Amino acid sequence: MKILITGSNRGLGLELTRQYAEDAWQVFATCRHPADACELHALAGRHSGISIHRLDVTSPDDMRAIARELRGEALDVLFNNAGVYLEERYDAPRLGAVRYEEWRRTLEVNTLGAVRVTEALLPNLLSAPKPVVATMTSHMGSIDDIDMPGSLYYRSSKAALNAAMQVLSAELAPKNVGLLLLHPGGVRTRMGPSDGIGADESVRGLRRRLEEFSLEQSGRFVRYDGTEMPW
Ligand SMILES: NC(=O)c1ccc[n+]([C@@H]2O[C@H](COP(=O)([O-])OP(=O)(O)OC[C@H]3O[C@@H](n4cnc5c(N)ncnc54)[C@H](OP(=O)(O)O)[C@@H]3O)[C@@H](O)[C@H]2O)c1
Repeated sequence: MKILITGSNRGLGLELTRQYAEDAWQVFATCRHPADACELHALAGRHSGISIHRLDVTSPDDMRAIARELRGEALDVLFNNAGVYLEERYDAPRLGAVRYEEWRRTLEVNTLGAVRVTEALLPNLLSAPKPVVATMTSHMGSIDDIDMPGSLYYRSSKAALNAAMQVLSAELAPKNVGLLLLHPGGVRTRMGPSDGIGADESVRGLRRRLEEFSLEQSGRFVRYDGTEMPW
């Protein structure tokens, strides 16, 4: 089985790479700066199934390059994991201090990035027998959950990501490509809370959700433990 993971140099992406490689999958581990990805290189040294590829999800040039590198490879899973949280911790920014450049950058990575990668690798997905696009979103993208100010850029980027992925799901399901929106929980990574769960526990749950997945469930939004998420 073959999987491509974005943002695989640290955090959840690195743990996804580790667990899938240990399970003998072929992993196309992608990151923005392969030369600096020390932990990923160490992991690849222990697992011959890991190959490392450059992919900045905001770069059209990188999209063309990865599509060329993977031409002819069938992809069972595309894991859109890369993401940014550019706000200061959860209280900023308020009206009067919105930094539009940071908001735009957040949308470029979290929303447009996942769509770009899915578009670039669609031929690879269409070559697999039961392909799935797994997209890491967040409970902070649930509009129903917004009851306090803050995290404007991140929340709106993940809400837009959820909507975009629903649109892609409607387009891809008739082509037998499934799509699953995943909330990993609050996880102790550079982005996540220091009192969160470990990435190993989150990723074990996320992998289970993918194992259980069937095409009829395409477009569902679930937490790593299987709980249905509000929109
Ligand atoms: N941790 C949590 O509690 C939590 C909760 C809900 C959702 N999530 C989501 O889970 C995903 C992974 O987050 P994490 O917790 O593992 O955070 P993290 O440790 O900050 O990792 C983020 C990853 O995204 C990569 N990335 C950022 N911009 C990129 C770009 N333009 N192109 C390609 N890769 C890029 C980073 O690469 P660089 O090292 O090059 O910056 C890094 O590998 C994100 O989508 C996040 O929104 C996390």
